[in-house]
Amino acid sequence: MQPIDIGDLRLDASNTSKQSALYLAVQDKILNGLWPTNGRLPATRLLAEELRVSRNTVTAVYEQLKAEGYIESRRGAGYFIQWAMPDQYLHTNINSERQRSPETKCVVADREEKRPPFDAHVRNRPFAPGVPDLAQFPYKKWARSLQCHFQRAHLGGQNDIQGNLALRQALSDYLSFSRSVDASPQRIIITVGAQQALYIAINAILDAGEKVMMENPGYAQMRKVLDRSNIDVSYMPVDAITGADISLLDKFDGKAVYLTPSNQYPMGTSLNTNDRMRCIEWATQKTQGEQARWIIEDDYDSEFQFANRPYPSLQGLAAKFQGEAANVIYIGTFSKTLLPAIRVGYMVVPESLVEKCLSVKDAIGGDTAMHIEEVLAEFIAEGDYLRHIRKMRTLYQEKQRVFVEALHQHFGDEVEVISQAAGLHVTFRWQGGLTALEAKALLEEKGVTIRTLLFYCDADSVSDMPEWMQRTLVAGFGNSSLDDIRQGVKKLAECFSCQ
Ligand SMILES: Cc1ncc(COP(=O)(O)O)c(C=O)c1O
Repeated sequence: MQPIDIGDLRLDASNTSKQSALYLAVQDKILNGLWPTNGRLPATRLLAEELRVSRNTVTAVYEQLKAEGYIESRRGAGYFIQWAMPDQYLHTNINSERQRSPETKCVVADREEKRPPFDAHVRNRPFAPGVPDLAQFPYKKWARSLQCHFQRAHLGGQNDIQGNLALRQALSDYLSFSRSVDASPQRIIITVGAQQALYIAINAILDAGEKVMMENPGYAQMRKVLDRSNIDVSYMPVDAITGADISLLDKFDGKAVYLTPSNQYPMGTSLNTNDRMRCIEWATQKTQGEQARWIIEDDYDSEFQFANRPYPSLQGLAAKFQGEAANVIYIGTFSKTLLPAIRVGYMVVPESLVEKCLSVKDAIGGDTAMHIEEVLAEFIAEGDYLRHIRKMRTLYQEKQRVFVEALHQHFGDEVEVISQAAGLHVTFRWQGGLTALEAKALLEEKGVTIRTLLFYCDADSVSDMPEWMQRTLVAGFGNSSLDDIRQGVKKLAECFSCQ
């Protein structure tokens, strides 16, 4: 058992004696479960020195706590905590409970209730959306490269807030040839994943109270960014066949639109060139208040298109007409192509917006580890990234094919796959019988995590969503083996057959 570090143990100066102040401070740590059962208390001499009290005071306090059953002494080994918090008090912080107002208690209880403890197994298991194949990452190669870069002392210091130049250079080349993105390294900002890039983008172009339009269903995390930034959100419905209803932009006088044009998340549709041009046209016009408009393009998993060649980026298309001045913020991530855990994303912004974005990033903090950036730069520049993507594309294509095949095998024509052959998930719907929420709950009992389409809808609009959305599920296949996929779909079919 790790010896207890006295950490922030403090003696309350208002107490009449040092002995009673020390007694109360140690008792408080034990009662709050901050010092664990069986933990070894600091030696009397050490504690006396740290707290500048006499050794006799510490010994007297330890003996009192021992007499009261909080601690015990073991011959030759010191004092150990022997008091265990009764179960019913386990989650109650005695001291801080005393200090919290009734309102804070409500907020805390609400938050604790809503946020179940993180379970990596559940979050990454078959059919959990958004997880790539974790086993396929080139761990050995990265470990070797990381080991080299870790020996370069100068990489251990402060980082460029914009991100490592070698990485921005490598990304600039990759993005221009693979996604037709117009991106000089000076206009690229490295972020801690696409999520941070979205936050930076919103806070660089909008003030609280201003308006954004986004897809509904859409990326749930983006709604959190908008909510936290006090942005007024309007929604653009997404049709299962035709995709996001871009015509709504004609009547929208807000400053920005957030889109996932190449693989709508989570419906899996894509915007055709006409619709893309319509968005670009909208962004070239100013708002009634003569303010510039923006498109935020989230290109999160466009590398994985299986049936067709992917559409080039909307940013690249806009740049053809407007050059570097095009009002498009292009956002991407390595979370799908490599691993979510490496936490690297990027944004490409017009020159005029670089400083503003950097000031937002500077304020919120959160640089990517420089060693990781160096490894990634090398990985891209040497062609390994492209090779990895090609390999994963073939693998995911097969997984997507097997998923759809298994759905047809068990459900025949009763299930319709909405999403295109792309990305890391399949979105499918059916008519009648179990709702998606019921199917999800039954499947959960069988050890499979899946999402309902309604999870991705704005909560206030759920009752107005088309009826079929009640019976639509979103299943990730990235981190599922072919066998997991077959078994998972079979389990889903069992849920339906025993309803
Ligand atoms: C549509 C979309 N955008 C952005 C992200 C964010 O990716 P990250 O913050 O892990 O880079 C995700 C992750 O699932 C996503 O689905």
